[in-house]
Amino acid sequence: MCMTSKKLVVVGQGYVGLPLAMRAVDVGWRVVGVDVDESRVARLAAARSYVEDIPDRQLVAALGSGRYEPTSDYARAAAFDVAVITVPTPLREGAPDLSYIVGAARSLAPLVRPGVTVILESTTYPGTTEELFAPLLTEGSGLHPGIDFHLGYSPERIDPGNRVWNLVNTPKVVSGVHEDSLAAVSAFYDTVVERTVPVGSTRTAELTKLLENTFRHVNIALVNELAMFAHELGVDVWEAIDAASTKPFGYLRFTPGPGVGGHCLPIDPSYLSWRVRRSLGRSFRFVELANDINDHMPDHVVRRVTEMLNTRRRSVAGSRILLLGLAYKKNTGDARESPATRVATLLADLGAHVRAADPHVDAARLPPRVTLVEVDAGELAAADLVVLLVDHDAFDRDQVARHACAVLDTRHWLPTHDRGRRPVAAGGGHPLIPAQVARHDELAFAVEPL
Ligand SMILES: NC(=O)c1ccc[n+]([C@@H]2O[C@H](COP(=O)([O-])OP(=O)(O)OC[C@H]3O[C@@H](n4cnc5c(N)ncnc54)[C@H](O)[C@@H]3O)[C@@H](O)[C@H]2O)c1
Repeated sequence: MCMTSKKLVVVGQGYVGLPLAMRAVDVGWRVVGVDVDESRVARLAAARSYVEDIPDRQLVAALGSGRYEPTSDYARAAAFDVAVITVPTPLREGAPDLSYIVGAARSLAPLVRPGVTVILESTTYPGTTEELFAPLLTEGSGLHPGIDFHLGYSPERIDPGNRVWNLVNTPKVVSGVHEDSLAAVSAFYDTVVERTVPVGSTRTAELTKLLENTFRHVNIALVNELAMFAHELGVDVWEAIDAASTKPFGYLRFTPGPGVGGHCLPIDPSYLSWRVRRSLGRSFRFVELANDINDHMPDHVVRRVTEMLNTRRRSVAGSRILLLGLAYKKNTGDARESPATRVATLLADLGAHVRAADPHVDAARLPPRVTLVEVDAGELAAADLVVLLVDHDAFDRDQVARHACAVLDTRHWLPTHDRGRRPVAAGGGHPLIPAQVARHDELAFAVEPL
């Protein structure tokens, strides 16, 4: 494919669409990035990225190449060769909200011409491409997918913040409504990624994405539930996980935490269970159980906070609690559906003075009644309890260990904590703490796992 003459439109310039647009510019496409959010478009035009994996200098280069145009005007996408849709697919009252896909399809349809290729990337339930997306394109263009133009689905596997696996080196599952469509979709992705994995139908490709995320969701729920029981049984779940992870076959490592967040795990499995219930009248019990466990992890964190304060003869009400991390995952600023927000809200409801530090998250995403602070010695020492919720690389383990009085470590982040042990009386010491460090508490430094 000679790309310098080819025009790609990427609909949605978010965590998924922007990296795709940048990569396509890199390999020679002329790219129009359409987004209905005018403030995002203005930021892109000013080369100010809001996606961590895309540095400003990459935007500067893309804009400077003359082959990248961010816009809110669909007319700028006219005469495209390939269109990729990367709009949100949230839940509304527990059910899939496909209104963004519907909106994008209606706006794009009048621009669809014979011979073009249209690809849906948004995560959704099996059947969406052919039952919902295709009819809208036909309605607005008078053309039929698989006959007049190519149509396919390709799930996105982007993992924000992952330094090893990115858009280019992660294999990309591709599908089409017919063989020719599959060939056209594969030909497009062959220009931007190292390896494509063709599957036989758009439904299979849609299900593949939901299988991947449901698998993660269920396994995280498994270790989360295990972590709660192990704590009560007085067994170190982390040591057991480390030991189990030495098995070279038949085991995959998942780790407990304060809950799941982001745009994928708390949402995607529910697309699948909704579809199963709607089409088959059955419940997808694994998904429902995993939702139940993962949704309640913030309550478990608050219970553990209460226990730890209790040991120190304090109540949650009136205690000063410092939360480390507000994002839903390590090294990102994405706080969508973050369990940290729920923890903060629950603690504030109980009357705690909640303070939070996160070098990545925008202050505008701060939950109500929470004070945003920088982590320093004074802030750590003044907290009755520090709760490590996100193990960002920017946090300093030694600083936390040196100055905090007590830490609830939900991510097994502090390296030498007293596994499973209760706080010890002053003078008992901690391997990371110099004995002479004075603390404002009658108990010595305590670190406890989730
Ligand atoms: N973020 C991830 O890590 C990730 C990974 C894999 C898959 N996905 C899936 O990819 C899809 C997009 O996710 P995201 O994280 O990039 O979302 P996002 O919210 O970061 O970006 C989506 C963008 O689409 C824009 N938009 C909405 N309606 C539009 C319309 N009609 N026309 C043009 N633009 C429109 C929004 O303004 C927004 O900027 C979702 O289905 C998500 O589940 C996300």
